Amino acid sequence: MTQRTVKISFSDSDRVIELPLLSGSIGPDVIDTRALGSHGIFTFDPGFLSTASCASDITYIDGDQGLLYYRGYPIEQLAEHSDFLETAYLLLRGELPNAEQKEAFVGKIKGQTMLHDQMVNSFKGYRRDAHPMAVMVGVVGAMSAFYRNSSDSFDPKQRDIAAFRLLAKIPTIAAWSYKYNIGEPFAYPQNKLGYAENFMHMMFATPCEDYVPNPVLARALDRIFLLHADHEQNASSSTVRVVGSSGATPFACIAAGIASLWGPLHGGANEATLKMLEEIGDVSRIGDYIKKAKDKTSGFRLMGFGHRVYKNMDPRAKIMRQTCYEVLDELGLHDDPLFKLALELERIALEDEYFVKKRLYPNVDFYSGIVMRAMGIPNSMFTAIFALARTAGWVAQWMEMISSQDHKIARPRQLYTGSVRRDFVPIEQRG
Ligand code: CMC
Repeated sequence: MTQRTVKISFSDSDRVIELPLLSGSIGPDVIDTRALGSHGIFTFDPGFLSTASCASDITYIDGDQGLLYYRGYPIEQLAEHSDFLETAYLLLRGELPNAEQKEAFVGKIKGQTMLHDQMVNSFKGYRRDAHPMAVMVGVVGAMSAFYRNSSDSFDPKQRDIAAFRLLAKIPTIAAWSYKYNIGEPFAYPQNKLGYAENFMHMMFATPCEDYVPNPVLARALDRIFLLHADHEQNASSSTVRVVGSSGATPFACIAAGIASLWGPLHGGANEATLKMLEEIGDVSRIGDYIKKAKDKTSGFRLMGFGHRVYKNMDPRAKIMRQTCYEVLDELGLHDDPLFKLALELERIALEDEYFVKKRLYPNVDFYSGIVMRAMGIPNSMFTAIFALARTAGWVAQWMEMISSQDHKIARPRQLYTGSVRRDFVPIEQRG
């Protein structure tokens, strides 16, 4: 088949530049602009509104139809039939494991859940009231100092060891960030437990009492992990790729991903959504908040609504709403006022002309906070749990980037809008 091309013509000259038009397996075509620089011209796309920053086999989103696939599998099927570690295997290796491969993978993760004992001191360097995300950024970055034999990003064997270490240890780091925060002793991982159960154990067990994780809640938490595992080239995954492109250690890359995720427009939205629901407090006040969200001067946005890519319901939000019902039922909280408030807010916003016109639908974070709060997880841990789950995707994206034939250090150009050349003026001559 002949290569399809796009021609760029200029309004002020006869110049024409012809560029290849590339097609993926599904999704929009992209113009390959790599050769543009050699013509002395660049593309300008702040916020990457129309830029495909890489080619990837991992995750596919169709924002108009509300579709999300990991390695081709619809998220709904994975949420129903798979579990987080199996999905992490899929993201990393590209295929679902058979029973033997899954057992080996899970066993390898379970064998590495403990942290180097000296890392306990990393936690102790923080103030007790530090936000768990602040601790996680630091402690994950510090892994480069403890696991130097898996810090060389250009060595495939070291990359693999780092991937296992990150997946295995991130729940321990997240749970211990919380334990340190509340002044309780660290609970060591229990390798006989499942991934989500073990995390619950490390969050809630104390040396004084046995802790038995509720299987319905553990399944719901595992589903939260699975739904957050990857989401193609979002801000934090792109950050991981950019940091990793220089050959930085895998731990530094994931620490950078955590830092990027923390913001309220990204992973921090789950915490912000719950705060907002608590602030609204009552169905009678929804109208005021919708009005405020529409008023640009208020600086207020309806948290948990809107998405750069989804212009339809986020498929994860639908699954999360269902999970909400299951968890609240299990805990006898059918009449949870915050859940009722969320359902009503969703109903009203989806009928409102402003939200309809701008195609603002609930995203994954709209319901995840309610589920986690019902489980007894404090608000400050919501984003930390997102980071724990997204580590699977970050590692997969980083591995794909660093082992790609097209790998190059990320080095964008700019549209310079500052002063043109001028001469230095000695201080005594400045006005
Ligand atoms: N409430 C009110 N108005 C909104 C909202 C909202 N939540 N989201 C977007 N808008 C408006 C915005 O004011 C803008 O209006 P206009 O065109 O008149 O200037 C228009 O919709 C487009 O918004 P944008 O900020 O240009 O869109 P974006 O693609 O850059 O931002 C977003 C996407 C997710 C950052 C944004 O929708 C938002 O701030 N949502 C609230 C925070 C949130 O829930 N974030 C979680 C995202 S999902 C989890 C994750 O992947 O991290």
